[in-house]
Amino acid sequence: MLTPEACDSIRRAVIAVPQPKQDALRPTTVRPYEAKDFEVIYRLDQQCYPPGIAYSRFGLRMFLAEPGARAWVAEEGGALAGFVLVRQVRSTRGHVITLDVRADRRRHGIGRALLTAAEAWLAAQGVRRVRLETAVDNQAALAFWQRAGYEVKGTLPGYYLDRDDAYRMEKELG
Ligand SMILES: CC(C)(COP(=O)(O)OP(=O)(O)OC[C@H]1O[C@@H](n2cnc3c(N)ncnc32)[C@H](O)[C@@H]1OP(=O)(O)O)[C@@H](O)C(=O)NCCC(=O)NCCS
Repeated sequence: MLTPEACDSIRRAVIAVPQPKQDALRPTTVRPYEAKDFEVIYRLDQQCYPPGIAYSRFGLRMFLAEPGARAWVAEEGGALAGFVLVRQVRSTRGHVITLDVRADRRRHGIGRALLTAAEAWLAAQGVRRVRLETAVDNQAALAFWQRAGYEVKGTLPGYYLDRDDAYRMEKELG
């Protein structure tokens, strides 16, 4: 998760959005973020991170409006179960700003499906390397990113709130 300190006018690329593992009782769809989703993703982000690390409304709006930023949501029967926000930083570099899945819907492939959609879009823009930051004590996220092919490239001391360390992780898109 990128801090506000460290930081859609882009054209819409037409890409197929991969879908998560389907639960017959609760089918999940990944679709591009729309402005009407803002309040729900804001609240989800507040639930996913501790105070001070979760984004303010202002911070989240700022990241969504950044040049090169793009987001997707996972929807289940009209309810949002997760979202991902990424940006193309330079022509061949991408950044995962945040990826949030509702606590009661984790381990159902939703995070993977959101990330796959984001990576496919980044790759279609010409991005070759994607980076992100994650708290060193966030074991679930670390396992998730490693499973998705991201490698720890270094530690960022005091990255969160000038107090908590983060790993810098990177992946080469194939
Ligand atoms: C990290 C997060 C996005 C993962 O989302 P998810 O939808 O639960 O992940 P998936 O179900 O797609 O998991 C894909 C794989 O990642 C790994 N994984 C995910 N969560 C894991 C956990 N808690 N422990 C171990 N491995 C895990 C597994 O290999 C999993 O595959 P499997 O379920 O077939 O074994 C979710 O836990 C979350 O939103 N956490 C809070 C916010 C956060 O920390 N975001 C990342 C910030 S950088």
